[in-house]
Amino acid sequence: MTTVAMSAAADTTFRHIKAAASVSTTAQVGAFPSNLSLPSNCAARKAFSITCSSTTLQTPSAATAASSSSDRVFNFAAGPATLPENVLLKAQSELYNWNGCGMSVMEMSHRGKEFLSIIQKAESDLRTLLDIPSNYSVLFLQGGATTQFAAVPLNLCNPDDVVDYVVTGSWGDKAFKEAAKYCKPKTIWSGKSEKYTKIPAFDALEQTPGAKYLHICANETIHGVEFKDYPKPAGESTLLVADMSSNFCSKPVDVTKFGVIYAGAQKNVGPSGVTIVIIRSDLIGNSQPITPVMLDYKIHADNNSLYNTPPCYGIYMCGLVFRDLIAQGGLSEVEKKNVKKAGILYDAIDGSKGFYRCPVEKSVRSLMNVPFTLAKPELEAEFIKEAAKEKMVQLKGHRSVGGMRASIYNAMPLAGVEKLVSFMKDFQARHDS
Ligand SMILES: Cc1ncc(COP(=O)(O)O)c(C=O)c1O
Repeated sequence: MTTVAMSAAADTTFRHIKAAASVSTTAQVGAFPSNLSLPSNCAARKAFSITCSSTTLQTPSAATAASSSSDRVFNFAAGPATLPENVLLKAQSELYNWNGCGMSVMEMSHRGKEFLSIIQKAESDLRTLLDIPSNYSVLFLQGGATTQFAAVPLNLCNPDDVVDYVVTGSWGDKAFKEAAKYCKPKTIWSGKSEKYTKIPAFDALEQTPGAKYLHICANETIHGVEFKDYPKPAGESTLLVADMSSNFCSKPVDVTKFGVIYAGAQKNVGPSGVTIVIIRSDLIGNSQPITPVMLDYKIHADNNSLYNTPPCYGIYMCGLVFRDLIAQGGLSEVEKKNVKKAGILYDAIDGSKGFYRCPVEKSVRSLMNVPFTLAKPELEAEFIKEAAKEKMVQLKGHRSVGGMRASIYNAMPLAGVEKLVSFMKDFQARHDS
């Protein structure tokens, strides 16, 4: 007979749910701890009770897939990226039967009352987090930030309109190139010749009079360059547009400075598959006639992001992350943690007497993506291999720049950064000669 042995410990609060489960061939079924705040029908609870059917045991269930936090790695990937442990466990506990409705979020109609409550709560929590005013619309879309590279000009411009791009890295450059199909973009500053290690002084920007918008990539994920403040568009009616894919919700942002903020390739706030657009509502409704229906902000705004089947599970996960960020005290608190983590890592790099180097100008170093190289590049493969053995993975730099990159998004715990720094010091001690 196959039975389930399971251990779990939990606070009653959402942030502290901890559960661990494993399948064993010994006949033991644990009692469900009364203080564990999991929904009555969740998979873990089912596995605890003797009602586990043979079907449950033959098919890998949420309970069998679970593991303890000691089995997890510190994942420094740039995206998709690490998610908060308590969010994953909450999702696990609700996977099989969301909120007692008898089905998973993956199975429910996007037009049913259950999913409507999920998307509405996600939106209202995001509004709370970023203090988004009521004259801004929030859209949950598909297609990634790459789709927004086209959607932004298609929705904000006519084909003859001039728009300005400040190109501080590869993503900004891709956005510029895509826009060239739908309007007349101009790169008014590029950091390419300096290998994308800088942000320009704003007063040195030669903005085009009458430009429809000024586009920036708030954090260049590959190069680790982040705007610490935002340029003011020169023209009265010129809009500031930002790709915030890799620093969205990592710190407070004054949304009112922007016409459009978009974030794809979710890193801080959920799994891949959800693109979030925050747009001043009066800008909606002027798309070019050729705009595909899926790229038209008006269609999505008029239908509350439910024009077609949305990425339901991803939106649900975003909602869980938003709740977690609110529970942490909001984005000012989150920013403090991010500043601390990044500070520890940059200090280690700068204090290594040149063994490690970060090429990015100090004042614009990203809090999210920390690229660094070794003075002896021949050691890089060894560094990455040894780190992985120590359960620190995905430290290889982007293929276009090489070296290493540690992405330390909101969900990377301080312990992960401390472990990396201590590994770096140890590695240096063994290889610095
Ligand atoms: C800053 C930035 N913009 C755009 C993208 C592209 O996003 P997507 O893969 O969602 O199209 C990425 C991907 O990592 C990114 O980091």
